[in-house]
Amino acid sequence: MQPIRRDIRFQLDPARVCDWHPDDRKITHFYNALSIFFPEGERFFIHSVRHYRDRIADPELQAAVTAFIGQEAMHGREHSDYNRALVEAGLPVQQLEGIVIRLLERLKRRLPPQLQLSATIALEHLTAIMADALLRNPHFIEGADPRYTALWRWHALEETEHKAVAFDVYDSVFGRGVRAYVVRAIGLLGASLVFWPLVFAFHLRLIAADRKTPRLRGWGRMLAFLYGPRRGLFPKLLRPWLDYFRPSFHPWDHDNRALLREVDAVVAAVDGRLPAAA
Ligand SMILES: [Fe+2]
Ligand SMILES: [Fe+2]
Repeated sequence: MQPIRRDIRFQLDPARVCDWHPDDRKITHFYNALSIFFPEGERFFIHSVRHYRDRIADPELQAAVTAFIGQEAMHGREHSDYNRALVEAGLPVQQLEGIVIRLLERLKRRLPPQLQLSATIALEHLTAIMADALLRNPHFIEGADPRYTALWRWHALEETEHKAVAFDVYDSVFGRGVRAYVVRAIGLLGASLVFWPLVFAFHLRLIAADRKTPRLRGWGRMLAFLYGPRRGLFPKLLRPWLDYFRPSFHPWDHDNRALLREVDAVVAAVDGRLPAAA
């Protein structure tokens, strides 16, 4: 699987940034909370993979790393625009981004490079399993503003395309011994223990700061969206999250290449057929 860098501009409508999801502003703000992490998070991924670049002998993996870096850079650029719209809407996004920046700077200074790469492949696993859930279950985004939908689907598709790249770099540098496994497993435990509570806190902060979000209504819908046993997001993530702890795990064990057929349709929709932003 060779990822392809696609330079796409989504021109999101800033006026819709707090209510682009049809079900509820509280659900919109869950996606918005995730967006806050991306620009800095993706720079961190690029940094930790680049560190090992000259230790990769396989030219195909080298090419995949180049495409991975290109894709993450494009995601960072588009999510920066997205986050700017959140700032313009009066949400405390700069303050929340500041938390992410300080955290990642500290990790860069204090963690050995292997653990930084381990954190990266763990976070890539989390984004890949969320992407899979989004692409497989249209109800998570159905009926939403077409530009926001296109951005999230494009990001999910490219996360799927490159889900094994950083993992293969880790594999090729550290191999499959016990030590490599333990550091990889610690990476997912650590990343999950830091990332999810921060997402939860950022989500609540956005809800509290958006004055138009109803105080009382919508909580049930939001909880069903996140945790509902049949249609909720998190129950769908549990199994694939656990799979990562299998010593022989590889991201393509979970073969969802068929989902990538949609990518051309998403790109074509953005290339001119989406309604212009107001
Ligand atoms: Fe990304
Ligand atoms: Fe990624």
